[in-house]
Amino acid sequence: MSRLLLFTGKGGVGKTTTAAATAAHASRCGVRTLVASADPAHSLGDALGVDVGHEPVEVAPRLFAQQVDARARGERSWSEVQRYLVAALSELGVDPLAAEELTELPGAEEVLALLEVRDQVVAGGWDLVVLDCAPSAETLRLLALPEVLTRYVRRLLPMERRIARVLTGTVRPVAASLTRAGVPVPADHVVEAAERLATELTGVQEVLRSPRTSVRLVTTAETVVLAETRRTWTSLALHGFRVDQVVANRVFLGGDDTWRQRWSAAQEAVLADADASFHPVPVLRAGYADAEPVGVAALAAFG
Ligand SMILES: Nc1ncnc2c1ncn2[C@@H]1O[C@H](COP(=O)(O)OP(=O)(O)O)[C@@H](O)[C@H]1O
Ligand SMILES: [Mg+2]
Repeated sequence: MSRLLLFTGKGGVGKTTTAAATAAHASRCGVRTLVASADPAHSLGDALGVDVGHEPVEVAPRLFAQQVDARARGERSWSEVQRYLVAALSELGVDPLAAEELTELPGAEEVLALLEVRDQVVAGGWDLVVLDCAPSAETLRLLALPEVLTRYVRRLLPMERRIARVLTGTVRPVAASLTRAGVPVPADHVVEAAERLATELTGVQEVLRSPRTSVRLVTTAETVVLAETRRTWTSLALHGFRVDQVVANRVFLGGDDTWRQRWSAAQEAVLADADASFHPVPVLRAGYADAEPVGVAALAAFG
């Protein structure tokens, strides 16, 4: 299993840049690295300056990039279960459109992206997988989803099994009343699909909780951004995720004009606050570059 680093933070702080820079630096140190983006904003390719597709592509020696496709992956398992539920509810007189809505798996699409990441971490043969996540609030929701969904899917399962057992077993009266109600018995492939999905979701949780996985919070040295970073930090801790580094990005490196000096002083105060808040986790400083760090070479230097 590879080491997994998740980068998150408030919108626009430099998550993609920092994630790609970390990956570029690691690859130059000899680490076989995959940098993947789960943010539908698709900016990983822009940062690397190359086209990034749904399969890992080598963008530099030992550095691969991938835009995780939330749609293509794993959807089969859920859609089989959903088709059965929609049919069952429709038989009971629920409007098919409403039935469809009722059986939507909340957040399914985003979680499918995590299934792909899990596969890469477990079987991809990488030393390091760096995941560029969506902004903090969405990421928190996403990280909590596998647990919620596993419960959701598992709750479906025993009921289905019970019905199936009753129908094939000796409890005829119940079977008869169910048949009268017109509820179709889930076929084996439906139960199997639900089981497969639950197992896959458990696998995602195992990867997220692994001691080889940690979160890196990207922030800027501004009070408003730091306040959100602290809230994210707290929520992550409550959910049992480990943050092992905070990156304060776009730090002014001083200057002679009053404007820059004022910013520098204000940022110093925020950084001191950040150091105290996150101690003993290190708050790394990344300077405000004089140009966007775009392309592998610029990113590796930034890293
Ligand atoms: N330290 C920096 N110095 C200069 N430009 C930066 C720095 N960090 C990020 N940028 C630029 O800021 C913009 C937003 O960064 P990005 O990494 O896409 O943020 P996010 O992923 O958090 O939305 C990009 O144009 C990026 O090149
Ligand atoms: Mg981004």
